[in-house]
Amino acid sequence: MELFIDPDADRSVTRQLYEQIRDAILSGRLGPGERLTPSRAVSAELGIARSTVTDAYESLAAEGYIEGRAGGGTVVAGGHGSYPRSPPPGALAPTPRSAALRRYDDDPQAEAAFDLRPGRVDPRLFPAVVWRRCVLSGLRRVSAQYGDPAGTFDLRAALSRWLASSRGITLTPEQMVVTAGTGHAIDLVARVLLSPGDVAGVEEPGYPPVRELLRSHGVDAVGVPVDEHGIVVDAIPPAARLVYVTPSHQYPLGVVLSRRRRLELLHWAGRHGAAIVEDDYDSEFRHTTRPLEPLHRLDRDGRVIYVGTFSKILSPALRMGFLAAPVTLVPAIVAVRQAIDWCPPPATQEALTGFVDGGHLGRHLRRVRAAYTPRFHRVYRELLDRLPADYRPLQTHAGLHLAVVGPDTASQDDPAHALLRHGILVASLRRSYQNPGPVTGFLVGFGALPTEQTAAAVDALATGITALTGR
Ligand SMILES: Cc1ncc(COP(=O)(O)O)c(C=O)c1O
Repeated sequence: MELFIDPDADRSVTRQLYEQIRDAILSGRLGPGERLTPSRAVSAELGIARSTVTDAYESLAAEGYIEGRAGGGTVVAGGHGSYPRSPPPGALAPTPRSAALRRYDDDPQAEAAFDLRPGRVDPRLFPAVVWRRCVLSGLRRVSAQYGDPAGTFDLRAALSRWLASSRGITLTPEQMVVTAGTGHAIDLVARVLLSPGDVAGVEEPGYPPVRELLRSHGVDAVGVPVDEHGIVVDAIPPAARLVYVTPSHQYPLGVVLSRRRRLELLHWAGRHGAAIVEDDYDSEFRHTTRPLEPLHRLDRDGRVIYVGTFSKILSPALRMGFLAAPVTLVPAIVAVRQAIDWCPPPATQEALTGFVDGGHLGRHLRRVRAAYTPRFHRVYRELLDRLPADYRPLQTHAGLHLAVVGPDTASQDDPAHALLRHGILVASLRRSYQNPGPVTGFLVGFGALPTEQTAAAVDALATGITALTGR
């Protein structure tokens, strides 16, 4: 433990040492059994007499805070739990705008028999052996210096080739910026396109973290209703400078933005001089029909910023994603990125480049699709069969979660809370709304649910819902 001496203090040096060590023990910074630095070393480091240190240690020992250890040395004694401290008067506080933000995963450590929260992938499908190889060979190539804030040219080139073949999007590496996932990409875009007080359109219901992110910039994130064809373009506020959409698989309802709406949205953005952020977070997992053309591919006026992520394809733990922007925006985005954290992690970029260019991504995707698609069909069928009639899984074609909509009554206990009491973690549908009204429902993520456990999980879920509705 680092000890400090204030030469101007009105307390003796012995007292100062005593208080620092006692406070560290009481606050839990020094735990039971932890060894104290020998008095000889402390006296040498601080340039004080050894007896000053031993006096402090003796007082602490007399009060039971520390004790001698059989083999020599002094350790922290047990039984001094940390005490909660109330913040000092005048402690730092966030601005009202930041204080109003709410995290989406209220309890990330929550445990239950079945974790069916959306956003989870199957860790058993992570290609650990190949990834390890890519990391090791990437480490041999990586430069031990700051890198390009846009990401390495090689990774951007690899990503643009992959997007050309998988999504039919034509991009140059100069349009691409490697990011730490979707939220980070949208943060960069918001910083260069929006000012506090601006209006942005977000889907209602929608993805809460993006709403909160826009609010953190002082942007008025206005909810725009979603129907069976996707976002209702006529309802977008005319003042919106940016519209955030999930066209391939609307979060959370799962509808696909129809081709007609896609064209209307692009036309709207052209007329209003607004930007569209296309979040294509999980379209790699199409379970039934063929995907529609991405908005980016239909865009003739350079209005669309395309955002992708490796959170679903590989793992959310990698924190890797990208954006493709009109070249007019890229220099500002890159400058902002550099001002924040300079560049994406060079070693992870090298590993990912090897993974994409080595053909591993294609092979991995074939493997995970083969695992997720039967799981999707099975969970959907089980939910249809087992849930009470007034709880309906919405038809969807892609992704790793399903939305279940319940009866229109806000008076009921939120099913997500009720299900937790039955050992099941799901996300509340109400949380995806800014103004939920009487809606009830929940989101079932099946990414991390082994196929052989679907029947047991849905069984537990149906029991919980039946208990909630009293039938
Ligand atoms: C709508 C949406 N976008 C993006 C993501 C992924 O975000 P990130 O790339 O920041 O991990 C998710 C994750 O569940 C999501 O639901």
